[in-house]
Amino acid sequence: METTASQRRVTMEEIVALAKRRGFVFQSSEIYGGINGFWDYGPLGAVLKRNVKDAWWRDTVELRDDVVAFDSSIVMHPSVWKASGHVDAFHDVMVDCRVCKHRFRLDHLKDREKCPDCGAKSSFTEPRNFNLMMKTSIGPMEDTAALAYLRPETAQGIFVNFKNVYQSARKRPPFGIAQIGKSFRNEITPGNFTFRVREFEQAELEYFVPDDGHDMEAFQAWVERRKAWYASYGVRADRLRFYELTPAERPHYARAGVDVEYLFPWGWGELESIAHRGTYDLDAHMALSGKDLRYFDEATKTHTTPLLIESSAGMDRTTLTMLIDAYELERSVDPNGKSTERVVLRFHPAIAPVQVAVFALARNRADLVERARTIERELRPVMRTQYDEGNIGQLYRRQDEIGTPFCVTVDHATLEDGAVTVRARDDMRQARVPVAGIAGYLLERLTQ
Ligand code: GAP
Repeated sequence: METTASQRRVTMEEIVALAKRRGFVFQSSEIYGGINGFWDYGPLGAVLKRNVKDAWWRDTVELRDDVVAFDSSIVMHPSVWKASGHVDAFHDVMVDCRVCKHRFRLDHLKDREKCPDCGAKSSFTEPRNFNLMMKTSIGPMEDTAALAYLRPETAQGIFVNFKNVYQSARKRPPFGIAQIGKSFRNEITPGNFTFRVREFEQAELEYFVPDDGHDMEAFQAWVERRKAWYASYGVRADRLRFYELTPAERPHYARAGVDVEYLFPWGWGELESIAHRGTYDLDAHMALSGKDLRYFDEATKTHTTPLLIESSAGMDRTTLTMLIDAYELERSVDPNGKSTERVVLRFHPAIAPVQVAVFALARNRADLVERARTIERELRPVMRTQYDEGNIGQLYRRQDEIGTPFCVTVDHATLEDGAVTVRARDDMRQARVPVAGIAGYLLERLTQ
């Protein structure tokens, strides 16, 4: 049998349809018509996203002795956002069309003279700033005294706790603090599925280094580490780039910046930003709070403010990337010239929501069903499994479409020879494997 991968890129419509059909992602509040910029992760999507987050956490926190874990609250003192600059400067510039009343981001308008929606000429209002922070109120009174914000990034929770953490964890720069958590931004134009949304998760690493001339090395080391991370989960190299920001593209205080970008079906989109932020963040909080957030540097015997290297990755965007990058439409032609097509998600086994599916070939044979269920139960503690039964062609098709690396089938012969058929997702090869050694056989292939 000859197989060829289609050269055609998957469309977003196909991804959205597959995500819904197989239970990766649903529109939030769908039965009420949905709500723009919010999405829910279904049974498979929730596991995929958790696996992506676990993969980041393992590499960024667990495998290092110089990074500690953190989990700050979503709502913080409003002064945090005053100091960080978000209250005054975290906004998009908007204009309204006076005729159709539609609102546009100024930087998205190609022709400022003519409304792209209704075609009216010179109909725009003066540009106005629109703050992207989501507001809420604390306590029973909805007055300005109770005003608070849902955090637009997790990072500030780390900065304001810098001293608490280094003192309690007995760390001194260079060391990092990492957290994964929800952030909220009142995006004017959410879109491209889960790419630009109003509620999302960030995985942020704040790495504090002494001001001793080695800070650029630390920055570069994180860039390399993140490169290796994406590569180790199989993201195609020709669809990933690390774009170095020019001084004009960086905030004034940043000494270096690299955006990690993926080539989505609509073009390049940012997955992560890695930045050398100098002392900007801690300085800002020290200035407004009046609290000393410096540490005592034993080398120089002075109280100093560390420099900050930040890596901030969007977990929804990374999960979407894994889904799109794994997608392949494959055409096979058998020796008789008959051609068939299959959709296959080639997830890395470590992030695949289901790693092994176990089937009973015939639904009406209690002995096969029992045997297959027993095998699945025994595998479950050591890998992510799923039991199913019925038409083998349909079962394979479904598992290919959700990216399951291996399928194990209990058939009539199993009861006699004590072996099962293991079918690999990627090359569709089949092997007969004794049930006694099945866990070891699969684990070896899942962790290769
Ligand atoms: N603390 C730095 C920071 O928040 P950012 O570039 O504004 O930097 C980091 O955000 C990452 O968070 C982005 O690269 C992106 O992956 C994710 N992100 C930001 N806004 C998002 C949105 N509206 N929807 C989904 N992900 C978003």
